[in-house]
Amino acid sequence: MTRTLAFDVYGTLIDTAGVLETLKDLVPDQAAAFSTLWREKQLEYSFRRGLMQNYQEFSVCTRQALDYTCSMLEVDIPEANRKSLMETYRVLPAFPEVSEALKTLRADEARMFAFSNGTADAVRGLLRNADIDGLFDDVISTDEVRSFKPNPGVYAHFLRRAGATGAEAWLISSNPFDVTGAISAGMRAGWVKRSPSAVFDPWEIRPTITIGGLTELPEALAAT
Ligand code: LAC
Repeated sequence: MTRTLAFDVYGTLIDTAGVLETLKDLVPDQAAAFSTLWREKQLEYSFRRGLMQNYQEFSVCTRQALDYTCSMLEVDIPEANRKSLMETYRVLPAFPEVSEALKTLRADEARMFAFSNGTADAVRGLLRNADIDGLFDDVISTDEVRSFKPNPGVYAHFLRRAGATGAEAWLISSNPFDVTGAISAGMRAGWVKRSPSAVFDPWEIRPTITIGGLTELPEALAAT
């Protein structure tokens, strides 16, 4: 059976902590806390916009979360620097093992897609910048149905666009909410536990497989 793989982008292929270097200059004492709160708020805004059916592109969630984080942590970052932080978000680096691991999977003839809340343009830019764009069959964005993960409709949209069934399609993500969302919508899913301290939500839904990085993926898939 040809496997169809849907790779989450932010946090899975691309390291959102890549903003840390810029943040260290702007908020030296709070860079890590700033980066974490910014990411959490970005996702919360996407969840809320999805539930409210009040769609705006993911970059709007990112920008509004940036402004929230500045207010919450009481740091005064000038508009020009906020703009450059947003620019940094468009050129975030890939995690170190990603390129080699994707090439191995590609050689195994998996069908591979980037599947993200980010718009197709933003995702293509990130993949190009990380020099991994040629390894994907296509980029599929939740923007095409004007909603966000984990709305079940966005996973159904992925399957339709990829021409795959849930039984043969895997979501690969470091984001637990994305993994539970995909399984709940009928896909299989691999959780990339990128840090030993990462915790999977204690729900009734468990990942189909758990791996420490993408290098482990070919073997983990072969064992299923
Ligand atoms: C994405 C977010 C969930 O890339 O990280 O879809």
